Amino acid sequence: MLSKAKIAVLVSGGGTNLQALIDAQSAGKITSGEISLVISNNPGAYALTRAQNAGIKTAVISKKELGADKFEQALIEQLEENGIELIILAGFMCILSEGFTSKYPKRIINVHPSLIPSFCGEGFYGLKVHEAALRYGVKVTGATVHFVNEIPDGGEIILQRAVEIQDGDTPEILQKRVMEEAEWHLLPQAAEKVSAEIIKSR
Ligand code: GAR
Repeated sequence: MLSKAKIAVLVSGGGTNLQALIDAQSAGKITSGEISLVISNNPGAYALTRAQNAGIKTAVISKKELGADKFEQALIEQLEENGIELIILAGFMCILSEGFTSKYPKRIINVHPSLIPSFCGEGFYGLKVHEAALRYGVKVTGATVHFVNEIPDGGEIILQRAVEIQDGDTPEILQKRVMEEAEWHLLPQAAEKVSAEIIKSR
């Protein structure tokens, strides 16, 4: 049997998308890949606790302490040491340079909480995305999983799912609905799809 693709999940905060990946793996919905490492740029991220509870190896690499160049060097070292083949950005709030992304073509995926190309790119992250959607007055939003290249949120789209906006939505309520109805389903599906492609391409 072909060995599973080793996955690293990069996080910064609460880690509900990481949890969705862990749960999907436990439920047998991710079979072509294996979450081998969780890396956070933020030592206080609750995502680290979620990883530890699931028995997954963790690392903290601080961009604040190291500066951008050394931060990416340290990331690459960790990824190489652990034989990582797929990098999943799951609420990872750092933009990666072209020097980094060009090392991993079609090997980095990201979940974004809108229907790209709406409400995306630099400055659109977390709640800000939902604030912008409500301010604009769109009636439908959603989530996107895409490959990561040198353009923030600009890589090839892998999966998207629409979510309706309801009267009275606040950014917080909308964020929760987009996570529940879209992100937590799409990210594990995309992780399996890309892992299967990696195994085939070996
Ligand atoms: C998620 O909604 C994710 O899509 C978003 O941050 C949240 C992280 O939540 N990511 C971005 O905005 C990236 N541009 P989580 O830590 O609970 O997974």
